[in-house]
Amino acid sequence: RAKRPAGAPDKKIAKPVTKVGIIGAGLMASQFATLFVRRLRVPVVITDLDQARVDKGLDYIRGEIATLLSKGRISQDESNRLNALVTGTTDRADFADCDWVIEAVFEELGVKQDVFADIEQYVSETAVLATNTSSLSVEEIGAKLSHPERLVGFHFFNPVAVMPLIEVVKTPRTDDETLSTAMVTAAKLKKNAVITRDTPGFVVNRILAKVLGEAMHAVDTGTPFEVMDHALDPFGLPMTPFELLELVGLKVGAHVLDTHHAAFPERFFESANLHELAEYGRIYERDDKGKIKGFDKKAVKIV
Ligand code: 3HC
Repeated sequence: RAKRPAGAPDKKIAKPVTKVGIIGAGLMASQFATLFVRRLRVPVVITDLDQARVDKGLDYIRGEIATLLSKGRISQDESNRLNALVTGTTDRADFADCDWVIEAVFEELGVKQDVFADIEQYVSETAVLATNTSSLSVEEIGAKLSHPERLVGFHFFNPVAVMPLIEVVKTPRTDDETLSTAMVTAAKLKKNAVITRDTPGFVVNRILAKVLGEAMHAVDTGTPFEVMDHALDPFGLPMTPFELLELVGLKVGAHVLDTHHAAFPERFFESANLHELAEYGRIYERDDKGKIKGFDKKAVKIV
């Protein structure tokens, strides 16, 4: 029998996950909430700043469960069970018995630091804390924690239901039990997990920021949107660079690019136009069903 490769986490030391707490009820969080409840079949509680945000997240999750039912992926019984397992709250005290807490709040270091410092008051000392940050330093996110050894990066890709990868980000402080729990949890979610170092953009976004950043820079320096949007066709990617930027979210995309520029100014461009596009909110004009009709005329004029 093949031996466990050196450095691979020992599954035997993984902690059980019996209740999942999710901080942030936005699109990413709602998407992975559905995945957690479907694959782990344990109670999942989501929270956000106010009840309206929590309700929006719950509606999204229940919509995804309804889609799974309508596609015949789950039975009516299973759908009922999953719906019953998902709850929302604005009271973090409801996280007291969670042994896995993951956050997907706004990509701002101070916000995430405060979220974890606060949640640590409610959960047990052994609960694993995970962050879905796309490019901030996981170690810095845990700077205010009393137990930073139980913090790990757990980075999903959009759309969560379809993208097969999770980046598990190990900080210099992450302990073996936490890493092992993250790897076992990823496997239970039926995702491939790779362990990455805690460096800006980890592995995937470092590449993505390069590709999308260069595409944006080409437009910033005079290449028309229509030309750049087809320039990657030879690679057979499922989406054009600007479709991918809209999928990721223009604000998230601009933030990821800024993080990379700050860390490696000689390798990544800044784009003031991308920030303006993010404020405007879109690049394409779409029909009611979301199908692209062409470039948005005002968006094109921003550049
Ligand atoms: N949520 C849930 N499921 C979705 C979905 C969504 N938002 N979008 C698509 N799907 C599902 C569909 O329901 C369908 O599932 P089915 O086979 O069970 O019916 C399946 O995906 C395929 O969808 P479609 O047939 O409608 O469309 P496509 O074949 O064109 O695929 C796509 C859509 C999967 C989004 C494909 O275009 C794709 O892979 N795009 C690239 C996405 C990508 O690169 N993501 C990574 C972004 S980087 C990131 O997230 C990191 C962050 O930190 C920045």
